[in-house]
Amino acid sequence: MSSNPVVAVVGATGAVGREMLKILEQRNYPAREVIALASARSAGSRIEYKDGELTVQELTENSFKGVDLAIFSAGGAASEKFAPLAVQSGCVVVDNSSAWRMDPKVPLVVPEVNPDDLDQHQGIIANPNCSTIQMVVVLKPLHDVGKIKRVVVSTYQAVSGSGQKAVQELENQVKQLFSMQEATSNVYPYQIAFNCLPHIDAFLDNGYTKEEMKMVNETNKIMGDESIRVTATTVRVPVFYGHSESLNIQTETKITSEDARTILAQAPGVRVLDNPSEKIYPMPIIAAGQDETFVGRIREDQSTDNALNMWVVADNIRKGAALNTVQIAEFLLIKDLIRVP
Ligand code: A2P
Repeated sequence: MSSNPVVAVVGATGAVGREMLKILEQRNYPAREVIALASARSAGSRIEYKDGELTVQELTENSFKGVDLAIFSAGGAASEKFAPLAVQSGCVVVDNSSAWRMDPKVPLVVPEVNPDDLDQHQGIIANPNCSTIQMVVVLKPLHDVGKIKRVVVSTYQAVSGSGQKAVQELENQVKQLFSMQEATSNVYPYQIAFNCLPHIDAFLDNGYTKEEMKMVNETNKIMGDESIRVTATTVRVPVFYGHSESLNIQTETKITSEDARTILAQAPGVRVLDNPSEKIYPMPIIAAGQDETFVGRIREDQSTDNALNMWVVADNIRKGAALNTVQIAEFLLIKDLIRVP
């Protein structure tokens, strides 16, 4: 397209939508106009953007007239219904829900890993699952050197991954418990304050959760390599912002811990924080508000050959969602792909 795009943020009042607006502003995304869309509940409310405010409009079938690019973070049901309507009106969609991720016609993109998959887009581009994004940013440079055979991952995921209501729920529960009241749970099946829930998204017949299978299937799709075997345990922890992951990575050729540090120090979007003697390692309180994926505690697995353990932390709302989406929007602009083929 010859002029700067008109951009709609769908789900603009949510935890991720607000961050999308912030990042569009911070990175000076050259939008001709930005439109904030949410449900009828929020229509008319105002959100700060640049030097002024945006008035939130209700998302309807007619919302995409004259819009070139829509970035969605309003849940799977809204994406399923409205993303195809947006594409029909000539608008390219970058969708943060899981609705389209495994559709073979839809590129699933992490710009540091597979930006060229954007070239084949047919209107919808999917933003991967938050835990998957921070994992593949670290896996890709190691895969390029040693070819990854297997990954065992356990996650420690912040409540902000479940949206603004979950952030509120953890805050309320902490207050309730300190006031000797019973904790009320609406978002999660059990109290999340001072607890851990080995349950993210629905359970499937194979005993895994949907979140765990997202990490398996999305990793293969993004890395473009079905031979990488991934197994995951995903756990919700009482942290507000920042997902952590323990990774065990087995490679075909040996990568020493020293080599891994060197490779990762040069990898785009990665910051190595790994000096145990000085108590330097990644933590959610360091990653929150930052753009990089932090990696530390890199060490060789002593129980088997050619395997590494490491600890990976990123801001799930930024790199895990809003930032990755805006980075995709930037690549679409650079590659002149803001058009429906
Ligand atoms: P609203 O605030 O009007 O409910 P979060 O993930 O933090 O819960 O945010 C979800 C975002 O998606 C919010 O902006 C919410 O708007 C929006 N949303 C949810 N369902 C719909 C829908 N059916 N149509 C439009 N926006 C929706």
